[in-house]
Amino acid sequence: MGERDFLRDFPLLNNKVNDIAYLDNGATTQKPESVIQAICGYYGGCNANPHRGAYALSVKATDIYENARAKVAGFIKARRPEEIIFTKNATEALNLVAYSYGLAQVEQGDEIVLTISEHHSNLVPWQFVARTKGATLKYIYLEEDGNLSQEDIATKITERTKIVAVTQVSNVLGLKNDVQDIVKKAHSVGAVAVVDGSQSVAHMQVDVQALGADFFAFSGHKMLSPMGIGVLYGRHEILDHMQPFLFGGDMIEYVEEQETSYADVPARFEAGTQNVGGAAGLAAAIDYLERIGFDRIEAIEKDLLDYALPRLREMPFIELYGCDSKRDNKTGIITFNVKDVHPHDVATILDSQGVAVRAGHHCAQPLMKYLGQNATCRASFYLYNTRADIDRWLEALGKVRRIMHLE
Ligand SMILES: Cc1ncc(COP(=O)(O)O)c(C=O)c1O
Repeated sequence: MGERDFLRDFPLLNNKVNDIAYLDNGATTQKPESVIQAICGYYGGCNANPHRGAYALSVKATDIYENARAKVAGFIKARRPEEIIFTKNATEALNLVAYSYGLAQVEQGDEIVLTISEHHSNLVPWQFVARTKGATLKYIYLEEDGNLSQEDIATKITERTKIVAVTQVSNVLGLKNDVQDIVKKAHSVGAVAVVDGSQSVAHMQVDVQALGADFFAFSGHKMLSPMGIGVLYGRHEILDHMQPFLFGGDMIEYVEEQETSYADVPARFEAGTQNVGGAAGLAAAIDYLERIGFDRIEAIEKDLLDYALPRLREMPFIELYGCDSKRDNKTGIITFNVKDVHPHDVATILDSQGVAVRAGHHCAQPLMKYLGQNATCRASFYLYNTRADIDRWLEALGKVRRIMHLE
């Protein structure tokens, strides 16, 4: 794996009080010192309301905010910074698309195609649009190995489809979808493609132009940044024709008593005072990730996966989900159950052994139902995890059934 001297960059993980194998990175990631410093530096030295003041400090805050936008554009290879809209998280970004694009474009009888592995954030907003407009939701289901059904992709996206919404990586199964192919299919019938990048953008190089995505959403907090900052990328020609989602200060050009003309993109979609400190943190996180490099991040996660999976398979009481992909598309997310033990009990016992994993439905209830499970546990890795974390997790797993008096 090579020397990973950057492990010391994460104060929370080096804090003896916590002493934790943190394996819940799919939920949120820890923050390196440089990100914490960027946030503190903003509030300690540059805080003012951006875009509003003529004074130097406000101009400085505006520069920090707009430079962060340009950095995000470069990071995901958008054509221009104006294609980046700051939101508070992926959920708000996806709601923005549903409200501003979906409600305006979807008509009665149209179809919206989702995959059964969508997080509620990329599913419930589309239910709302479908219900409001009299459209139908259709789902792409899964093959035996957890990958999207090729037959469903071929048959469910039709001339009636207006929107195809798909996650790049499932937050439960950890499988990477062939988004480029799905986007092509969507475009071939004149539909737009909305890609949820929440579980991908922190782990692999994303190129929105190569993907062909019309919209791409993600949260900063899953990629080393603070909570409260997220991103919606949208193709400029589409954004330019969209109505705002939220109304108020900053998103206007002129306001009369009865009428308002709206600002250009992206300000049109950023009503009210924005999270400049969060944007500063996000920019610092991008610098950090680019310094480490995605080749290295992917290699670290793959090593952890290759180390953990055979060992888990040797444990007869472990049930795995999404771990038998016939393709080379498994990311560092392992979803599992311990036979005859409720996932919440498993997670509580693991916690007592200093291991943090997620238990529950993972905000993907339709997928859980499809898998025939009420809940599962999920371990999700990131660049600062080590084989020692995996050892600790597996050792704790070995104790679960004994503690539950099943052995
Ligand atoms: C695939 C996926 N989409 C969307 C989200 C929503 O992210 P947030 O809660 O930050 O808006 C998550 C978070 O777990 C996710 O995993």
